[in-house]
Amino acid sequence: MSAAPQVLIDAQQQIQNDLQDTLNHFDLPSPLKEAVYHAVMLGGKRIRPALCYGAAQLKYSVIPAAARRAAVAVELIHCYSLTHDDLPCMDDDELRRGQPTCHVQYGQATALLAGDILQSMAFEVLGSRLFAHGDVADQAITLRQMQILATASSKMVCGQVLDLQAEGRQINQQALENVHRNKTGALIQAAIMLGAVTAYPVGDLIFTQLRQYGQALGLAFQVQDDILDITSETAVLGKTAGKDQQVQKSTYPALMGLQSAQDYATQLHQQAESALASMPANTQTLAQVTDFLLHRQN
Ligand code: IPE
Ligand code: IPE
Ligand code: MG
Ligand code: MG
Ligand code: MG
Repeated sequence: MSAAPQVLIDAQQQIQNDLQDTLNHFDLPSPLKEAVYHAVMLGGKRIRPALCYGAAQLKYSVIPAAARRAAVAVELIHCYSLTHDDLPCMDDDELRRGQPTCHVQYGQATALLAGDILQSMAFEVLGSRLFAHGDVADQAITLRQMQILATASSKMVCGQVLDLQAEGRQINQQALENVHRNKTGALIQAAIMLGAVTAYPVGDLIFTQLRQYGQALGLAFQVQDDILDITSETAVLGKTAGKDQQVQKSTYPALMGLQSAQDYATQLHQQAESALASMPANTQTLAQVTDFLLHRQN
């Protein structure tokens, strides 16, 4: 298995602390509090926060507070999406991040509400002064971040609808790409943009390259998720392997075969890497995270 690079380990530590700090600010009744903790704190690769930090680090060596808040916010949205994705009315899964899913542990109503509150918490954090230590707030950046995150969250929901509609049906590559770009690609792309807007002004040329990078990486991520469902094992994945085939999900391996899907994921990664290489900035962190993603096992 490919080991996580140091930049990802550092990002995981940073986000774990920041998520814990964030949750401590909320006074939630039981069992909502425990369900939220379960959905957020127990594992996960924390790829989206790492991408958010990496984008801010294109320019800064110290991650600005606005990028730290955004990393928390995007991870909270992601955790909400997973909690709802696992519900019996959606993918009906019992294992997530090597743990019982939130509804298995706390019941469906509490898991549903945990997802709901994670969504509003994300925007509360974005608009807060958390981690700022007296820095002057740049409200224009905050507003852009809210727009970026809200748009991506809506796309995620639309993608989830299309994903469920495509179960047990044959859809063409264009339609499947649309599902994947929405349900997964949009939030990955947003994670990058949320960090980048803390470092670059509106209209900076780097946003064109960042968009290309994020689009390729975001689609590659879900193509690989589809591949890993087939090639990996439950113990490594931390979620039930083989589940997509069982419920006849529309996936890239189902559409084009496993080998072609793997080739496509590699091709998308090359696109992401070349977009990154063309940026006149310090791309080290993003390059290491990108390389890790290509070789990930879960
Ligand atoms: C899983 O995302 C769901 C998808 C969008 C494919 P991750 O693979 O990032 O899940 P965690 O956060 O590491 O558990
Ligand atoms: C999830 O896609 C996309 C989300 C928005 C959560 P999947 O349904 O394939 O994710 P896993 O495989 O359950 O993690
Ligand atoms: Mg799903
Ligand atoms: Mg699922
Ligand atoms: Mg999946």
